[in-house]
Formats: sequence, structure tokens, C-alpha cells
Amino acid sequence: MATLTCRQLVKTYKGGQRAVDGIDLTLEPGELMVVVGPSGCGKSTFLRMVAGLESISDGELRIGGTLANQLEPAQRGVAMVFQNYALYPHMSVFDNMAYALKLQKRPREEITRRVREAAALLGIEALLERRPRQLSGGQRQRVAMGRAIVREPRVFLFDEPLSNLDAALRVQMRLEIRRLQQRLGASMLYVTHDQVEAMTLADRLVVLRDGRIEQIGTPMSLFETPASCFVARFIGSPAMNLLPVTQADGRARLPGGLILDTEALETEIIETAPETKADTAASADAAEPPAAATLGVRPEHLRLDPQGEFAVTLEMIERLGVDALAYCRLPGLDAPLTARLPLATLEAAALREGSEIRLAVDGPLHLFDAEERRVARRARLSADTSAATSSIA
Ligand SMILES: Nc1ncnc2c1ncn2[C@@H]1O[C@H](COP(=O)(O)OP(=O)(O)O)[C@@H](O)[C@H]1O
Ligand SMILES: [Mg+2]
Repeated sequence: MATLTCRQLVKTYKGGQRAVDGIDLTLEPGELMVVVGPSGCGKSTFLRMVAGLESISDGELRIGGTLANQLEPAQRGVAMVFQNYALYPHMSVFDNMAYALKLQKRPREEITRRVREAAALLGIEALLERRPRQLSGGQRQRVAMGRAIVREPRVFLFDEPLSNLDAALRVQMRLEIRRLQQRLGASMLYVTHDQVEAMTLADRLVVLRDGRIEQIGTPMSLFETPASCFVARFIGSPAMNLLPVTQADGRARLPGGLILDTEALETEIIETAPETKADTAASADAAEPPAAATLGVRPEHLRLDPQGEFAVTLEMIERLGVDALAYCRLPGLDAPLTARLPLATLEAAALREGSEIRLAVDGPLHLFDAEERRVARRARLSADTSAATSSIA
């Protein structure tokens, strides 16, 4: 049985704003599902609706098979970890962790046992007598997780739990949460605006946009087949390069004097929300996929090559260590064309800012239509040799 099911979940705040606008999803037992999206897209509202901290305007929420729309928060079998930890400052770590069990009037020995077990799991046994203000950020974060663990919930809810920690600690805690989740076999809904956190933690990823699911799937499926320009921009760092495609003289043209040839793909499976899936299936029956209005290529899929299609000027280099990001100017494109290149390659070629270079595509090209939806076509680039304006030598 699914741990949690949402059907057309809607939240309309007073004043009429639909912060959550029809969410359909199923969280499987033991699954870590990450909900990701820009600030204000409805992530916290959605999580609070599941927790029972915010009423549900429409739709259905089931937890462990039971309709939970009207259940009190304490009866839902969920435990939430908040961004600001929400610890009681006047209570010891032990009492913070024991609080929910005391409210449930559990026997004292059981409370002590469960708090000690959770503390051991999190490596905070030595801190049980301290107050929250005597703890570091990472330790507070562990206490907040411990408070959720002692309740043995059916579903853990995390709302940006790491955003108050510094970068190094964020990486460490990310690994700890993953390890903990696997050890407990816990089902988790985890909200973040950080796409790296989302990619690295998730079994499945839900990209939220204006209160709706834009795409749902494994991190790699979203990386490899983004359903829209929105997902393409959001998943992957640095973001995918997106180039406008214009139709002129009966050909599809790109900045830099390039021609785009495309060929319809027989099938392309994209996991999306149920409603959009129906749309895709319907349009797959139609004859031709729509024309491309945008071409996408990931920075990882461009390489230095004297025969490369893109003739660009190297404008800026960011050395990341093993790799470097090369920001290049392509005539006719406002944004820089970004390539992730091995630093050794750049140095071997003695490249510097201002160098004229060529980049070849070494990976998939992504096509999107005028509505920024993915187009099921295979794409090929070539130089426009017929054009008088062509500067390609
Ligand atoms: N209590 C509230 N009353 C009215 N509008 C709200 C309330 N809480 C959030 N919102 C609005 O709902 C939208 C989604 O907010 P939120 O769920 O906090 O987004 P996120 O967590 O993704 O940043 C935002 O436009 C926000 O301004
Ligand atoms: Mg939020």
C-alpha cells in the first residue's frame, strides 16, 4: 500500500491565491521524494497541508490508505522537520525529543528508551542535557531530526532542513539524512529549492511550478529528458544552454549561422504528472511533433574541437578544480554559451579570455516548442554554407 497519496490537492488562501493548484502524487513505502522548485511555488504550503498545519481546500490526501483531509496533525502519523528547527529553547535536548511522546502519555521507560535510541542513531547522546542555545547549527539540526524520529512516523516531512547550515555542513548532513533514511526504511517528503540537494537525495524528484507539478521522475530522467524549458533550466548546474530557433528561408536557424535539422522520434517516454501524461499520449497519436522554437544543450555536452559547430569567443573562465566553466560569446545569442571543459584541455591549448575557439556537441540536443514543452525530435546541427553572412572559415 502506498504510504501517501495526493489526488488533485488544492490550496486556496484567503484572498483567492491558489498556492497549490492540483497536485497528484504517490509516495511509495521507503521512498525519498524530493519536491523542488523556486521560492514561492507552493512547496511549504503543500508540505503543511500534508502535515495538517494548513487546511486542504480541495482534493484528497490519503496516508497509509486512510483519508486524512480532516485528521488532526497528531493523528496523521507524520513528523515534520522545519527549516528553523523550532526547538523549545527552555527545554533540554532530551525533553525536546521526548515532548511528543510525553503528550501521548507513553510510559517513562519507553520514552527514555526511544529518545536514547534516536540520540544514538544521530550521535548526540552526549548532548541530551544541553539547551538548544548551547548547540551548533548542525547539532540543532540533528535534535530536530531526533524529535521526528522518536515519534516513529509513517512519513517524515522535511521543509528545507539544511538551508541554515554552511555549505560544508550541508553536504555532510545531506549524506547523513540519506543514510538515516535508508537505515530506517523511512518514507520521506523532502522540500528544497536547492537543485543539487534535490538531485543527490531523491529517489524521485517532483518539480513544482506555480503550485503545479511540472515533471516527476528519477533525478537522471529529469536531467536527461526535461519535459520543458523550465525543468531544463532548473535541473543541472550550470543550467542548460537554451538557444532560440528561428525559421527563415524555409530552414530552422540558430545563432552563430547554424542550421538545425530535425527528425521526428518514434517514441520518447517522459514521466510527468498524470494529466500531462494524457496530453502527451494524445499528441503522440497526432502526425508530427511540433516545430522546435528552442534548442537546449548542456554545458557538459560541449567539448573543445577545431571542427566544432559553434565558433565562439571565450569571454570568461571559472576554474572549478578538475573542470572549468567556459563562458563564451556566440554571435546572435545574448546569454553566454557555457561549456564545462576539463581544465587540463584548456591549459594544454593555452586558452585565455578572448581566445577564438570552436565547440562541438558531444551529447544529446534537446528541443522545445513555442510553449516551451519538449518536442520528440532528434536534432542535428550544421554550418550554413550557403549564407553570404557566414563567417565560418
Ligand atoms: N498564509 C498565507 N496566506 C496567503 N498566502 C500565502 C500564505 N502562505 C504562503 N502564501 C503564498 O502562497 C505561495 C506559495 O508559498 P509557499 O508555499 O511558502 O512557497 P515556497 O515554500 O515554495 O517558497 C506564495 O505566493 C506565498 O506568498
Ligand atoms: Mg518554503
